[in-house]
Amino acid sequence: MAQEIAAVVVVGSCMTDLVSLTPRLPKAGETIHGSKFFIGFGGKGANQCIQAARLGAKAAMVCKVGNDSFGNDYIENFKKNNVSTEFVGQTADAATGAASIIVNGEVKTIFNPAPAIADLDPQFFTYSDIFCCNESEAEILTGIPVRSPGDAGNAGSVLLERGCRRVIVTLGGEGCVILSQEVRTPKHIPTRKVKAVDSTGAGDSFVGALAFYAAHYPDLSMEEMVKRSNYIASVSVQAAGTQTSYPSKKDLPQDMF
Ligand SMILES: Nc1ncnc2c1ncn2[C@@H]1O[C@H](COP(=O)(O)OP(=O)(O)OP(=O)(O)O)[C@@H](O)[C@H]1O
Ligand SMILES: *[C@@H]1O[C@H](CO)[C@@H](O)[C@H](O)[C@H]1NC(C)=O
Ligand SMILES: *[C@@H]1O[C@H](CO)[C@@H](O)[C@H](O)[C@H]1NC(C)=O
Ligand SMILES: *[C@@H]1O[C@H](CO)[C@@H](O)[C@H](O)[C@H]1NC(C)=O
Repeated sequence: MAQEIAAVVVVGSCMTDLVSLTPRLPKAGETIHGSKFFIGFGGKGANQCIQAARLGAKAAMVCKVGNDSFGNDYIENFKKNNVSTEFVGQTADAATGAASIIVNGEVKTIFNPAPAIADLDPQFFTYSDIFCCNESEAEILTGIPVRSPGDAGNAGSVLLERGCRRVIVTLGGEGCVILSQEVRTPKHIPTRKVKAVDSTGAGDSFVGALAFYAAHYPDLSMEEMVKRSNYIASVSVQAAGTQTSYPSKKDLPQDMF
């Protein structure tokens, strides 16, 4: 076995995106012309892992891919991005997406309840150090509609009552709201205004960046980690694509490291 596995370990989904650009959706059974087709690497868990690795984390992915060309290509993609594939399995069975859990070697666990279910096993609230969800996930879990930082704070308070230690509710262009058992008053952490081109995968960029900071800069305050993760995710919305838009350490201001 390896002596040191990784600083960031992501357990989660790994999917190949098959993207067609068409003028409209075809009806059932209809064939229409498209203008573009491309294959992308996706899956919320894999996205998060690649963002952490691009920032310089020693990262490993735990997932299973098929024994086919997409699976082989994905393993190559991990290797290219310096993600350890020691725990990437290959099987003839189809992969299924599920909630992703990020674990690092010390104590810290970030839980990203995507896609959210209303009757989530309550152990998930108490066992994660950081519970990070977006507006709609917060609403599904708490029943509180989240449309503003104030709403996010209210939903976050419910999650604290259920036993979460620290809660982050992401709010797209509004940044996020943080709160914790120690500081129960929600705090809104806005992000910078950018020209958003494609916000797909912004949440995964954010969680991946957070995992990087939790693993490599554990002494930073929650607020500082989240400000930097906001910044990194804001870079990702300024270009098209998911992983293709994720910045590397060299693309970012060096005072973030
Ligand atoms: N328009 C934007 N401008 C600046 N930053 C953004 C914007 N959209 C998203 N972000 C950044 O990305 C983070 C996560 O975004 P969001 O809350 O939309 O997550 P999400 O819904 O899980 O994303 P997605 O499902 O699109 O991957 C935000 O907290 C913020 O830091
Ligand atoms: C890849 O990871 C190894 C081990 O973690 C590290 O030594 C190396 O610098 C990394 N390479 C790149 C290009 O990031
Ligand atoms: C994957 O497929 C190759 C041949 O296509 C075969 O040799 C190998 O045993 C398969 N592996 C698994 C895990 O099914
Ligand atoms: C939140 O994430 C879910 C995936 O769990 C996604 O379907 C949904 O669109 C996201 N919500 C927002 C407001 O972006």
